[in-house]
Amino acid sequence: MRGARQAIRPVPRLGWLLVAAGLHLLSGCKGPQRVLATEGPAARELADLWWVLIWSTGLPAVLTIGVIVAAVLRARRADKQVEPPSRGEESFILGVGGVLTLLILIGLLFASIRAGNATVRPPSEPAVTVHVTGHQFWWEVTYPEYGVVDANELYLPAGQPVRVVLSSGDVIHSFWVPQLHGKMDMLPGRTHQTWLLADRPGVYRGQCAEFCGIQHALMAFSVEAEPPEAFAARMARMREAARARAGRAGMPGEAVFVQAGCGLCHAVGPRPREGATGTPGPDLTHLASRRTLAAGTLPNTRDALREWILRPQAIKPGSRMPPTPLAPEQLEALLDYLETLD
Ligand code: CUA
Repeated sequence: MRGARQAIRPVPRLGWLLVAAGLHLLSGCKGPQRVLATEGPAARELADLWWVLIWSTGLPAVLTIGVIVAAVLRARRADKQVEPPSRGEESFILGVGGVLTLLILIGLLFASIRAGNATVRPPSEPAVTVHVTGHQFWWEVTYPEYGVVDANELYLPAGQPVRVVLSSGDVIHSFWVPQLHGKMDMLPGRTHQTWLLADRPGVYRGQCAEFCGIQHALMAFSVEAEPPEAFAARMARMREAARARAGRAGMPGEAVFVQAGCGLCHAVGPRPREGATGTPGPDLTHLASRRTLAAGTLPNTRDALREWILRPQAIKPGSRMPPTPLAPEQLEALLDYLETLD
């Protein structure tokens, strides 16, 4: 009993906890989710507001602490008691402090109203609409104008605003692409709108920003902005690929897909639809063209896909993908089939 007690580690000191918390906050400055490395007008507005907040609150805080420290040091050094301020001096100090605080707060109010107005509406009418539905723990993405259904990846024409219609198939999620815009919640039974505009072609990381269950942290997506012609060509190619698949002779792996029950949760084929559908699993029509599997969890390779089919609960415990035990030759046939889905 005594030995067991001694084995318990001492709680880290508060100082270390604060250092750890500080370092953790600094992690937002690097990596693919840095909010200050903006790549679009909305994110720029928010970053500017962030700087205004930091300076207008940080500077007075540092000045106040500096004055207090100076006063304490002076009082320590003084041989005799320091004279307290007169009534008039006291009123002056309080008056200046009150007026400055009020001015800063009013300034912040206007700055946040300005940023709010600038981020709520895109600079011009969006030419493209994307529907994004949050599911535990993945993203359904549909382009109604193009008849394309996809998951966990979003494509945009660079330099053009895109309307993003948000909904949820189960619980509350939050749509967030830190380098392009602020967060927008996705509530079950409701539809919200936001917009994205990427200045230039590039790949940006998106992440669910509302705790939605055990795999909230592994609910990521990517946003790829490409030249408008390339975006249009991609949409046309995706729609054609889905159409062509409908008439193609079945591969052996397709039968495995049906027999193993994959098709109960996953759709494959030309199936344009909008908004929340309650589909348990992602549409696999364009699975092979995706960067990642399981919403940003695994690289999209044959080995990773094999592992994901066999042991999803070891990779993403609590996700709704059940393990699918298959004989090796069946599994390889299924993988052959899935690799054709681009
Ligand atoms: Cu979805 Cu957190």
